[in-house]
Amino acid sequence: MTTTISINDSHRLLAKQLDMAPRLLLGPGPSNVPPRVLQALSMTTVGHLDPLFLQMMDETQTLLRYAWQTDNPMTISVSGTGSAAMEATLANTVEPGDVVLVGVNGYFGHRLLDMAGRYGADTRKLTKPWGETFSLEELRIGLNCHRPAILALVHAETSTGACQPLVGVGELCREFNCLLLVDTVTSLGGVPLFIDEWGIDLAYSCSQKGLACPPGIAPFTMSPRAVEKLQQRRAKVANWYLDISMLCQYWGNERTYHHTAPINMNYALREALRLVAEEGLAAVWARHQANAELLWQGLADLGLTCHVPKEFRLPTLTTVTIPPGVDGKAVARQLLQEYNLEIGGGLGELAGKVWRIGLMGFNSRRENVILCLSALERVLKNF
Ligand SMILES: Cc1ncc(COP(=O)(O)O)c(C=O)c1O
Repeated sequence: MTTTISINDSHRLLAKQLDMAPRLLLGPGPSNVPPRVLQALSMTTVGHLDPLFLQMMDETQTLLRYAWQTDNPMTISVSGTGSAAMEATLANTVEPGDVVLVGVNGYFGHRLLDMAGRYGADTRKLTKPWGETFSLEELRIGLNCHRPAILALVHAETSTGACQPLVGVGELCREFNCLLLVDTVTSLGGVPLFIDEWGIDLAYSCSQKGLACPPGIAPFTMSPRAVEKLQQRRAKVANWYLDISMLCQYWGNERTYHHTAPINMNYALREALRLVAEEGLAAVWARHQANAELLWQGLADLGLTCHVPKEFRLPTLTTVTIPPGVDGKAVARQLLQEYNLEIGGGLGELAGKVWRIGLMGFNSRRENVILCLSALERVLKNF
């Protein structure tokens, strides 16, 4: 019996070489990838148990510990995007019935709450309007009322542009004998962050924002207190792929195969972290702050207002209120079509109300701020 291979016009179309426009990514992420990271990504693929790769994994752990300011031995890259590492923090520490208290003041607080519930947590939430943050006193009242096993907060709410102050929260969590879990997706590599000094027990991030790497690999860290909770589990971790005890047999001395690591993404992450270390964290944070302030001043000069009060504004992501009568989507579309410039629209409650301008990692540069402001000024003249 013979079978014929069919080929039609759509197959021929799909065989065309990919040709992407040179976008400047000033939205909520991903951000543009620097040449050194792209170069690392294109290096020859080796095996996931090759001694060269294993050595590189150790180096990535060291660089991640620096970027996060932690000594946690369990600091690794999870194969997947930020949401995978987010899920790893919850899957490993939540046992059915555990009370998990989530600070919900934006879109990603809701995601944490949803994920925790899927692992059987008794979820509780503290809410604040989108764009506001929680004070220590409000957190104390919440902890006292709910007595959770875990308090989860979003350090940098990408949906609102607000930065949650974290100094003192770790001590508060120790006082109430609970773990502190923090989303650092839009803060790692852009906003001051001290995992150990601030008493953060579980944190995750992504590769595609402050670290300026493509999406697909996600930093994860766990303190000895969180490891203790993991070791005392009564039930198996319900997620096989993200079971940290098993993953750590690959990252630790055993070097046991768990899954085939995305080799080249790990090269890219290592190079991105090396760039952060070369510049130095203090300089990286100062650069993000200076460029954000330049943006804020320029927006004010254009008569535009920011959604978040300056005191709580993220240097990595700014939410700009869309002026009445202006079609926000049309403005963003025109910026993309005419200037190859991507900015983001609002998410969730802020959909249609704000634009989101990201200045992260490699993209946090003076020339990008000036280009963005002048393109925005020109486009807004048509509205
Ligand atoms: C604060 C925050 N948390 C979690 C995520 C999820 O990360 P990812 O889209 O890489 O899965 C994002 C994505 O933008 C985010 O901004």
